[in-house]
Amino acid sequence: MRLNKSWPAAFLFATCARASVDPLSLVDPLIGTNNGGNVFAGANLPYGMAKAVADVNGENTGGFATDGSSVTGFSSMHDSGTGGNPSLGNFPIFPQICKDDVIDNCDFLIGSRAVSYINSSVVATPGYFALALSNGITAEMTATHHAALYKFNFQDALNGTTGTKPLVLLDLTDLWQSRQNATISIDETSGRISANGTFLPSFGSGSYESFVCVDFAGGSVNDTGIWVNNRAGTVVKDLFVTRGFNDFYLQAGGFVTFDSISANVFYARVGVSLVSTHQACRNAETEISDPASNFSQIQTSAESAWREKLSPVSVNATGVSENLQTLFWSAIYRTMMSPQNYTGENPLWNSTEPYFDSFYCIWDAFRVQYPLLTIVDPNAMSQMVRSLIDTYKYEGWMPDCRMSLCKGWTQGGSNADVVLADAFVKNLTGIDWDLAYDGLVNDAENEPLDWSVQGRGGLQSWKNLDYIPYLDFDYLGFGTNSRSISRTVEYAYNDYCVSVVGKGLGKTNATTYLSRSMNWQNIFKADQTSYINGTDTGFVGFFQPKYLNGTWGYQDPIACSPLASFCSLTDNPSETFESSVWEYQFYVPHDMSSLISTLGGADHFISRLDFYFESGIADIGNEPVFLSVYAYHYAGRPGLSTRRAHSFIPAYFNATESGLPGNDDSGAMASFTIFSQLGLFPVAGQNVYLISTPFFDSINITSPQTQKTATIRVTNFDPTYTDIYIMNATLNGEPYTKSWIGHEFFLEGQTLELTVGPNESASTWGTSADDLPPSISTATQLLV
Ligand SMILES: *[C@@H]1O[C@H](CO)[C@@H](O)[C@H](O)[C@H]1NC(C)=O
Ligand SMILES: *[C@@H]1O[C@H](CO)[C@@H](O)[C@H](O)[C@H]1NC(C)=O
Ligand SMILES: *[C@@H]1O[C@H](CO)[C@@H](O)[C@H](O)[C@H]1NC(C)=O
Ligand SMILES: *[C@@H]1O[C@H](CO)[C@@H](O)[C@H](O)[C@H]1NC(C)=O
Ligand SMILES: *[C@@H]1O[C@H](CO)[C@@H](O)[C@H](O)[C@H]1NC(C)=O
Ligand SMILES: *[C@@H]1O[C@H](CO)[C@@H](O)[C@H](O)[C@H]1NC(C)=O
Ligand SMILES: *[C@@H]1O[C@H](CO)[C@@H](O)[C@H](O)[C@H]1NC(C)=O
Ligand SMILES: *[C@@H]1O[C@H](CO)[C@@H](O)[C@H](O)[C@H]1NC(C)=O
Ligand SMILES: *[C@@H]1O[C@H](CO)[C@@H](O)[C@H](O)[C@H]1NC(C)=O
Ligand SMILES: *[C@@H]1O[C@H](CO)[C@@H](O)[C@H](O)[C@H]1NC(C)=O
Ligand SMILES: *[C@@H]1O[C@H](CO)[C@@H](O)[C@H](O)[C@H]1NC(C)=O
Ligand SMILES: *[C@@H]1O[C@H](CO)[C@@H](O)[C@H](O)[C@H]1NC(C)=O
Repeated sequence: MRLNKSWPAAFLFATCARASVDPLSLVDPLIGTNNGGNVFAGANLPYGMAKAVADVNGENTGGFATDGSSVTGFSSMHDSGTGGNPSLGNFPIFPQICKDDVIDNCDFLIGSRAVSYINSSVVATPGYFALALSNGITAEMTATHHAALYKFNFQDALNGTTGTKPLVLLDLTDLWQSRQNATISIDETSGRISANGTFLPSFGSGSYESFVCVDFAGGSVNDTGIWVNNRAGTVVKDLFVTRGFNDFYLQAGGFVTFDSISANVFYARVGVSLVSTHQACRNAETEISDPASNFSQIQTSAESAWREKLSPVSVNATGVSENLQTLFWSAIYRTMMSPQNYTGENPLWNSTEPYFDSFYCIWDAFRVQYPLLTIVDPNAMSQMVRSLIDTYKYEGWMPDCRMSLCKGWTQGGSNADVVLADAFVKNLTGIDWDLAYDGLVNDAENEPLDWSVQGRGGLQSWKNLDYIPYLDFDYLGFGTNSRSISRTVEYAYNDYCVSVVGKGLGKTNATTYLSRSMNWQNIFKADQTSYINGTDTGFVGFFQPKYLNGTWGYQDPIACSPLASFCSLTDNPSETFESSVWEYQFYVPHDMSSLISTLGGADHFISRLDFYFESGIADIGNEPVFLSVYAYHYAGRPGLSTRRAHSFIPAYFNATESGLPGNDDSGAMASFTIFSQLGLFPVAGQNVYLISTPFFDSINITSPQTQKTATIRVTNFDPTYTDIYIMNATLNGEPYTKSWIGHEFFLEGQTLELTVGPNESASTWGTSADDLPPSISTATQLLV
């Protein structure tokens, strides 16, 4: 792949040391708001439920995009970086001035009211978002946990128009226009708008109810009413809408007009809830008591909350470009928008446990995002794990994806198993491990009727044949009966994770799951070749689909790679999900040693990895690629992992609006760059971080759990990233030759010093058999 991208020197050497820079000033929420990153750019608190932004009619999965499209409203709940359909965006409000103050002259419909924004006016910082519309109205917003505060300025909009009375409408819709039915009611005295509605999750099954409560300040109410299609009236103050003829989507809502507004500014306070409109109002009143005067105080609190979340980490950024610094801090910020903390807002069951939502999706986030939170915000991660276990307790299953109170579609295995194992080996506290183990065993043993939203399919075959067959005969449960290869490798690793927790808890049957974790071997076809356009790649031996009767099927090993066409659940379903056989071929995180032998030894393995990255087969825009960037460690060539990471950062991950190669997936992409820049890459589910060279001279991370500070320091640090190969290392002053380290590093506040040089082949560090990261077939570290 395009590996030799050269960078202008000025770009690399952009900044010099600055005395204690506020990391918040290096967070750019607009990264990934173009080019399919789908990042939420607006105002929110860490894990906040209220997420306020201007919604556009372009690439609006996360609400706003810097793609030149037009603003259709301002809504207060969103997801970040997701694929699937546009998520949330319920009950947008939209201010405007009606010609001659005649209400029917206003634009109510989403198509006619859309107005472009002025590119240079967009300001996005943690806890704050602002822009100017081309009609002269400017909007600023900030947020608390369950409420958004908008400040609209009409100064320029009123100049030269024939209207004087601003109107703000509320639309009974969401970004995906998934509303099934909704109710609105407007208080004619205060102008308070209350609404509720039933909507659909953007990548899942079922429906959810959403509630909102809008109050205004800064202006006196002239009149109120409702609108339906493009006509409005002031007599009626309540409305119920449902789907019309042939499911026709009726556009409707309510509005308020204002007589006079002081200083041409008025405020809209929007409380959100998933329980009731009463609770939405209470949330707003509690969190924003005085909308007309609280704005800057709320913005400041939001900034403090974010600063606090970034505070465990500090870096010596001397010589490091501002681009790479911004990439780093913005990425940490983006990992803490989701999962969202809906504790106290869960109408589905009563529990004293935390409730988190927007695990969107675990398939994306288990690999690096949740491991990052375990380091920098272990308390939050523990609450998230407890929420997964509580979801198992009340709904019978842990999710593989969850959003908007609904079950999301499972993409591969039951990857909450990996999240739990990761929490277990890293000693996250506060978790009921016996209940957790029940949930894990449930995934491994019991097939749900609908395994498209939970658990695993094909479990009879899994237990009896030891692989997931191609075109399985499975009458126990139903799901999209594809992905036999990727499900086999993921289920194998999931079972490994079950065995880790089982073993740790002293369960005698943990060994059953350990042996099932070897099932990946049963779909390896030793004589399978791979061609690209008729040219033999020269590599032999690949995973292949296998029928129930043991006969091999066939899937071109490059199918579903960027060289072929994309494969998803319903879009070109194949035996691998969203990635090729080539890519899944490297996914045996618990036994890379066996995998390397199977593929013909370390040198073959390295050639295969190189070919995969350089031929364009690797898909850097999707999560399965992450661990393969670091797979060289297992072949005793850790320096090649570092080199590979540098080939992608910043060429494919950078601090621009289109600086993500794919959906950020709630911060999954973000965390790939953070760990790469830290020089420690997690193998989720194991107490293992693969060591590479950081992108900074030094990094300190203070564990919020133990208050001890871990330090990674680079001797001979080279900010041009030529000298990136570790020559030798010390841990707490003692020589350290292993190419990996455990979570004790963070908990005990250890110091890792790496001396680097320009020549990978000149180094013997991390190359001998004893230095390799653990594999179950060659080491006992994983299960002692
Ligand atoms: C109103 O608009 C006119 C023409 O664009 C401009 O010259 C004038 O300064 C504006 N007045 C105010 C009060 O903004
Ligand atoms: C609203 O739609 C949901 C989902 O279709 C349905 O369950 C509910 O009964 C509807 N409510 C009303 C009041 O029609
Ligand atoms: C929505 O609000 C209407 C009017 O207040 C009420 O009748 C209805 O029960 C509410 N729906 C839900 C799901 O709370
Ligand atoms: C609202 O505005 C209209 C038109 O300017 C005016 O006639 C009416 O008195 C106003 N209503 C109130 C309650 O101020
Ligand atoms: C920060 O990094 C620079 C460049 O590597 C180095 O010269 C300097 O000594 C470091 N500062 C501290 C306080 O370690
Ligand atoms: C939760 O408890 C409240 C108060 O006892 C009750 O009204 C509500 O129905 C319960 N909700 C569920 C989902 O059980
Ligand atoms: C989630 O919200 C609950 C209720 O407000 C709060 O107690 C808890 O600390 C929050 N969790 C995090 C990680 O912020
Ligand atoms: C977790 O706790 C156990 C028991 O105290 C200890 O042996 C182990 O080293 C700890 N693991 C980490 C990563 O700190
Ligand atoms: C392992 O033990 C659990 C009970 O702790 C049981 O539910 C499960 O079926 C057992 N698994 C196997 C493979 O026997
Ligand atoms: C395969 O051949 C086609 C047609 O010549 C060409 O467009 C395509 O780029 C080739 N693909 C690769 C991966 O070489
Ligand atoms: C196994 O099943 C496949 C698919 O049904 C079939 O094509 C193949 O001929 C069978 N092989 C044997 C040996 O029966
Ligand atoms: C930044 O990343 C994007 C997305 O991967 C890529 O298209 C773009 O070329 C990169 N920009 C630079 C300057 O490398």
